[in-house]
Parts: sequence; C-alpha cells; structure tokens
Amino acid sequence: MMIMYEDNPFMLKSKGHSLESSENQVLKQLQLMFRERNDIAAVIIEPVMVNAGGFIFSKRFLKELRNICSKYNVSLIFDEIQTAFGWLGTFFASDFFGVTPDIVTLGKGLSSGFPLAAIIMKEEYDVINYGEDEYTYGGHPISCAVALETIRFLENSNIFSEVMERSNLLKKLLLEMAKTNKEYIKEVRICGLIASLEFYQNKHKDFANYVYKTALYNGLVLRKSSNGFRPSLVLKPPLIVSITETERAMDLLSESIHEAAEALR
Ligand SMILES: Cc1ncc(COP(=O)(O)O)c(C=O)c1O
Repeated sequence: MMIMYEDNPFMLKSKGHSLESSENQVLKQLQLMFRERNDIAAVIIEPVMVNAGGFIFSKRFLKELRNICSKYNVSLIFDEIQTAFGWLGTFFASDFFGVTPDIVTLGKGLSSGFPLAAIIMKEEYDVINYGEDEYTYGGHPISCAVALETIRFLENSNIFSEVMERSNLLKKLLLEMAKTNKEYIKEVRICGLIASLEFYQNKHKDFANYVYKTALYNGLVLRKSSNGFRPSLVLKPPLIVSITETERAMDLLSESIHEAAEALR
C-alpha cells in the first residue's frame, strides 16, 4: 500500500506557518506514524520538489528525516530524477544536502535526455538477479554510451562551479525582477539551477498561467505549477546555459509578466 503524504511542509507553510515549524510538524507526524504502524517500508521524497513548484526542503529537515527513517527501520528513497547530475552544483542532491538515502532513482540528466533510467541502492537492497526483470529500454546501448560520456564530462569539466556561477546570476536577476514586480511575485526560490517564482493569487487567480502562456508565445519555455496550491513557474535551464542566455531568458520573463499584467488590467 502506498500513502500519498500530502500534508507536506510547503502546503502547511501556505497556511501561514514558517517553513521550520511546518517541517517540524511533518517530522513529528511521520515519527508518530512510524511508531504506530509496522507496515511502512519506505519514504520516497524529491529533495527539491521540482515540478510541484520548485520547493526546497531544508538540510535540517532531510537530515532529521534520515535519522527518523533509520530509527524506525524505514528505507529512505530520494527521487533524484530531476536533481541529479549537476543541477545543484553537485552530482546528486544527496551530496548537496549531506544526506545519504538508501535508494536513489535517476533519469533525465543521467543520459542528457536520452531514454534511460537507473536506481542506485545499498547492497542489501540488490535482490533481483540479472534477467529476472526487464524493461523495453533497459540497457539501451546508445543511451548507456551517452550516460557514460555525460558522467565523464561532469567528472572532468568545471561544470559544477559554472552551475553555481549561473545560479548566482539567476538568483540576482530573479530577485531584482521580484522587487520590480512585487505586487505579483510573492517568493523566489532557487537552489543551483532549479528556480521558481511564486505568484500572489489575490490579484488574479490565474496570473501564473497567463505569464506561462505569454512567455511561451515570447519564446521562453517554463514549467507551470499553478494547480491552485502556491501557483509557481519553474525554471530549470540546462547546465551549459550561458550568461547571455540567462540574461535573455530573464528579459523575456520580465516582458511576459508585464504583458500578462497589461492584458488582465
Ligand atoms: C521527480 C520525477 N520523478 C519521476 C519522474 C518520472 O520519470 P519517468 O518518466 O522516467 O518515469 C519524473 C518525470 O518528470 C520526475 O520529474
């Protein structure tokens, strides 16, 4: 049985609590659940909830979650399909947060977009023998070759420090944008090259959606996470994004916010 643990800290925070107290509340509830039930095998969590709106757990929360999982013998799984392979300026989000999960799921950046997914796990979880389970694209030779080359590139280049430089630039530009659009933008969140803008809902309920559509028309592809809960637009540029591209994207975003605001006036 799988429980979707929906009362996440970011939802609680939207009800007016601080992130720290929301995280504490969730940790407390999880610990209670672990203590009372003996049918919980694992917790799966995205260390940065990307598609949901670019929500970043604190290091303290993830470390405490690790401790609680270990204490109650519950496995901790990091879904790193979005965060791994450089987006936080480290190979894995686990490195960034300093937390070692039992299992990590991987995809996307692993093979620079070629169809491939993978799981890394502690040895004791490796119970399926080769050939006992198969996937249509499992071990796809071209994807595997691209994955090896991607890993080689990440290991031998300066890309992680470039990611952090671009992250700093993106942060600066987004914060400036938030300042000039403070009647619309509620919060800027950024961690490496995963960033998001959260919009106020009171002015126009669907504002984030309008900005998303306008930006798309203007040539900027964003991720829309505006399904009622903290409407946000997520930016996740490639690791090799240039300074010029970053600045151009921010200009397009700024224009799009302006145009969406004009259209709704
Ligand atoms: C965090 C996360 N996990 C899992 C998936 C699903 O991955 P797949 O399409 O390889 O099943 C996605 C897809 O976008 C994702 O963003």
